[in-house]
Amino acid sequence: MQRLAIQGGFSLNGEVGISGAKNAALPIMCASLLCGNTLRLDNVPDLNDIATMRRLLQQMGVAIESNGKQMALSAAHIGKLEAPYDMVKTMRAAILVLGPLLARFGEALVSLPGGCAIGSRPVDLHIKGLQAMGAEIQIEHGYIHAKCKRLKGARIFFDLVSVTGTENLMMAAAMADGVTVLENAAREPEVMDLASCLIAMGACIEGAGSDTITITGRDKLHGANHCIMPDRIESGTFLVAAAASGGNITLTDARADILENVLEKLQEAGAVINVSGSTISLRMNKRPLAVNVRTAPYPAFPTDMQAQFMAMNTIAEGSAMVVETIFENRFMHVQELRRLGAQIEVEGNTAVIKGCAQLEGATIMATDLRASASLVIAGLAAQGETIVDRIYHLDRGYEHIEAKLSALGAQIRRIR
Ligand code: EPZ
Repeated sequence: MQRLAIQGGFSLNGEVGISGAKNAALPIMCASLLCGNTLRLDNVPDLNDIATMRRLLQQMGVAIESNGKQMALSAAHIGKLEAPYDMVKTMRAAILVLGPLLARFGEALVSLPGGCAIGSRPVDLHIKGLQAMGAEIQIEHGYIHAKCKRLKGARIFFDLVSVTGTENLMMAAAMADGVTVLENAAREPEVMDLASCLIAMGACIEGAGSDTITITGRDKLHGANHCIMPDRIESGTFLVAAAASGGNITLTDARADILENVLEKLQEAGAVINVSGSTISLRMNKRPLAVNVRTAPYPAFPTDMQAQFMAMNTIAEGSAMVVETIFENRFMHVQELRRLGAQIEVEGNTAVIKGCAQLEGATIMATDLRASASLVIAGLAAQGETIVDRIYHLDRGYEHIEAKLSALGAQIRRIR
């Protein structure tokens, strides 16, 4: 079990390069299943989840070559239409092979992703949408067995906004017979990035980024080149770390237009933000002010930034309310932050944080990806040493985080 040792109390200064977005790269890698030609990707992040997705696709027969941030995927010879439990249980995004396999091969056997730390994470909306497109779906022995000679276009209304639900059905519809309309679709930038990759592959998609997406199915798609968009959650995480620790940092290869809500909240906390092209600078030379956040689907405040803002609120001036409306159990970081001395009360999906002048370092445990980022932020701001345990969660979604933080002046090292 690897751990991070953090000496708190140091400000963050300098430049940090933002990597490609995990939650765009994962569905886009699955899109390679939709054709027999090569999909060439650039700006692919070096993350454990990407490595897991690569192994999953390779065991199906996808030929994958990587060279740094570049990845070439070719699904010319698919021998297996299955996503086994041992791979799906560690990475829920594996469910994203379901739509493409069904669209191109007419069959798929995908393990039901179990729940995870932040919630039960059902996939009923994925299944309901595919059934509306004519798929016959049996669920037995923990697997989704889907079959369909050829999917048919349909009008699908999402009862809940679902990011991967929208992505799965968009990929399925790309090769269905006829027109599919996705209503109450997710508007996340990662959905738009997938759509632009599919369009480059020959798909006919309109309205990605809005809540109504229209897809006219094509008989065949072809290879393409696509550059993965920057990771807005990695960007937000570094900005919050600097706002909590103090200092002056500049993100490069970033995009401010997909972070508007987060940037506004940071300015509310007292940070000075400057945007110029693909750089975002943040300067914070005083204790942050506490800010209220309420998570909701994009373009509202992202649930993936909730834990990070809670960490900042623990040392902010004043009290704040954090309301989590997306997942039913996304406050796992609260108990760990309390071990550092944080004053947090939780009632249902609402947490009230009373900022204190300083936290005291301690040994704490990561429980899920974004919670672990929250613990690192708190450790950077706390006095003394903080040890964060179970950081395999962190490695799933943050590329070389201790190297990037060390380069900004943080006193952080990995203990093997
Ligand atoms: C995606 O998860 C992201 N993962 C999550 O990021 C992110 O937190 C989440 O969207 C919300 O923005 C990837 O893109 C790989 P949802 P996803 O379907 O698609 C319920 C991270 O940190 N729901 O939008 O699984 C669900 O339980 C990860 O990178 C159903 O009820 O989330 C949740 O309450 C964590 N039935 C809500 O909808 C379904 O069929 C939103 O979930 C699907 C979802």
